[in-house]
Amino acid sequence: MAEKTPGGAGLRGQIAGKSAICTVAMGHSGLTYYGYEVDDLAENCEFEEIAYLLFNGELPNARQLADYRARLVELRSLPPALKKALELIPKEAHPMDVLRTGVSMLGNLETETSFEQQKDQADRLIATLPGMICYWYRYSHDGVRVDMDSGEDSIAGHFLHLLHDRAPSALHRQVMQVSLVLYAEHEFNASTFTARVCASTLSDIHSCITAAIGSLRGPLHGGANEAAMDMIKQWSSADEAEQAVMGMLKRKEKIMGFGHAVYTESDPRNAIIKKWSEKLAAEVNDTVLYPVSVRCEEVMWREKKLFCNADFFHASAYHFMGIPTKLFTPIFVMSRTTGWSAHVFEQRADNRIIRPNAEYIGPAPRRVPPMEQRP
Ligand code: COA
Repeated sequence: MAEKTPGGAGLRGQIAGKSAICTVAMGHSGLTYYGYEVDDLAENCEFEEIAYLLFNGELPNARQLADYRARLVELRSLPPALKKALELIPKEAHPMDVLRTGVSMLGNLETETSFEQQKDQADRLIATLPGMICYWYRYSHDGVRVDMDSGEDSIAGHFLHLLHDRAPSALHRQVMQVSLVLYAEHEFNASTFTARVCASTLSDIHSCITAAIGSLRGPLHGGANEAAMDMIKQWSSADEAEQAVMGMLKRKEKIMGFGHAVYTESDPRNAIIKKWSEKLAAEVNDTVLYPVSVRCEEVMWREKKLFCNADFFHASAYHFMGIPTKLFTPIFVMSRTTGWSAHVFEQRADNRIIRPNAEYIGPAPRRVPPMEQRP
């Protein structure tokens, strides 16, 4: 039986390659995209600016942004064969599986045949992802074939409009912008590393993004926002939440939305989304979910010095905006496809196939015994 190798478990703390895109570290300027702090970006930029930054290395000026926004609007329509494929996926499917199929299907219909197409392909992906999610969701749940012509000029507004069949409020549009900015990029996390490994074989971009979606799906990664929601919605008061969390800690259960593989004291994205969650709670006169979330945060810090990661207050924020829980992680995909694509471009620009070694801990060399001597 293989023994655990604590030092090397999870490749924690090891440098696995060079990147100019993002820093993830403790302290001030911990999370940056191309040198810009995430607080600054979340305060001052819309998601389209971040996509432009990640794909080009620089923020757009006003004209470039207007052109880019218009381009992404033009790229929104879903090919009929993709719609047909989405219609075949049952209502009970997990939307992350839907997206994995949707991106893969798009790769069949609009295959990347040269790396020169990579930025166009990435633009097409981020323009179509909100439509893919909402087309499947609305068709399978409401029997409606949504029209991609939402009239919204931002990806944030487009998603909310398609989902709810009405123009979102200014507050909801803004929170969705912030959320997409916060989730866009995070260095060599599991899904991005998956995308880079796939890119390093010189595979096509749809394969890289499909692989990354599979990786993000797990509850230890992107799936944590959904898992956090499923947890907090069980409790009807902060006191009940405290009691339940104490019990979970005693039983050594993981509390989703807490802890981080790199950050040790706080996740810089948490304070930002928490503030917006509080605003949304006030808007809907919530007296349960937000206090429950705050109490979880207090108890986890008091008992374990564990802090909320980006996912925890995203759960309540999305819930207050009327977003169904199972669409939480797909929103992460809508955003992170920018970071994944940027890493695919970077990997391709200076590529060597990613192929580490394993420390062998299996049986000593031996010969195949004759069948009659095998136990
Ligand atoms: N709830 C309870 N305990 C936690 C915890 C959590 N969310 N996160 C970490 N811990 C504990 C572990 O049980 C472990 O305790 P031990 O030393 O007594 O065994 C210790 O803290 C170290 O945690 P570990 O899982 O080894 O850290 P990691 O770096 O391997 O994992 C995460 C990082 C993010 C995977 C982990 O914190 C986690 O599973 N969090 C919940 C899922 C989540 O929110 N994921 C989204 C990440 S952005």
